[in-house]
Amino acid sequence: MSLLAQKPPMGWNSWNTFGEHISEDLIKEMADVMARDYLKAGYEYLVIDDCWSLMERDEAGRLVADPKKFPHGMKAVADYVHSKGLKFGMYSCAGVRTCAGYPSSYDHEFVDAATFAGWGVDFLKYDFCNFPTTGDCRMRYQMMSMALKASGRDILFSACNWGVEEPWHWMRSVGTHMYRSTGDIQDNFVSFTDIVKSQLDKFCDSAPGCYNDIDMLTVGMYGKGNVGLGQPCNDSEYKMQFALWCMLSAPLMMGADLRNLSETAKALMLNQELIRINQDPECRPPIVVSKVSDWGESYVLFKHLADNEFALGLFNFSDKKRNVQAIFADFGLPESAGYGLELKDAFTGEEAGLCHDYLIRELESHDCTVLVGRMKAR
Ligand code: GAL
Repeated sequence: MSLLAQKPPMGWNSWNTFGEHISEDLIKEMADVMARDYLKAGYEYLVIDDCWSLMERDEAGRLVADPKKFPHGMKAVADYVHSKGLKFGMYSCAGVRTCAGYPSSYDHEFVDAATFAGWGVDFLKYDFCNFPTTGDCRMRYQMMSMALKASGRDILFSACNWGVEEPWHWMRSVGTHMYRSTGDIQDNFVSFTDIVKSQLDKFCDSAPGCYNDIDMLTVGMYGKGNVGLGQPCNDSEYKMQFALWCMLSAPLMMGADLRNLSETAKALMLNQELIRINQDPECRPPIVVSKVSDWGESYVLFKHLADNEFALGLFNFSDKKRNVQAIFADFGLPESAGYGLELKDAFTGEEAGLCHDYLIRELESHDCTVLVGRMKAR
């Protein structure tokens, strides 16, 4: 029996950095780096996004890889990716053209799924541009789901309809394994925090088998590339972005150029403790305690992990250094309970001891702390 997406999918996608500038050479180089440095940590899907095909289908109505970008065809690329121990992902769209104007799968669902399966595709990102006004969004995702299953290959179905028709209520039921719930991320603080804030209360149905996808990470882009728009994130903002994705058990698809990633960004995305929180088998969303005051915005996230562990995240969204306070009564542990949490810092491994009643951390603007631990009698 094959069970896809039992943990939040992890990998890399070409869009954030490269947009239309993709090629066989680029994908092979990325596969080499991924296999060498990231596969062991769990990043297994290498996904080619939009702009990979010719502008027209062939005589049999099939999609054709652009021979200028992929001179040996897509099967050769898939074979190379597989030879590195990775899984191979591709992209199409539920509308009549992709967002960049290439042919897409509306009314070609079954032939396209068969083409992808024939090439050895393991993951399909399925976008929503140029969708007919009279089209039925849910039915078209359901149709592609059936087409992928008919193809005879296990293909992880990554839907991307940007939250249209509130996909958190129905995408699981049409067989997808993850669904983009928001518009596109950009490599700046406002973009990724707006995305998170819009989804914080929509993660309860995000669980093994099908996840709320809040888009590819921008960690390590530093403003370079296709979605490098606005004031680029700094390292502390990347730390916050990664911590939020992990606390939500959201899919972890990297988006930066892995061939020349900064050591800081690399260490962040390889942080085993954070990945462990993301990949926790229960995949529970956190309890959210938010505070918006004259001092700015802060969030305390409390996440149940498997085996009676917990993760506690303190986030300073404001543009000033400030104290962020976690009051344990907010997650069911008032002083009178007689229990505290024995915590350690997930980023540094530093012990924080037995904490109870409340915890205060002075955090720089846009900084965060994540702690993990277990309950203990005081
Ligand atoms: C958008 C999608 C992006 C990317 C792009 C490609 O609709 O949200 O993640 O796939 O299309 O054109």
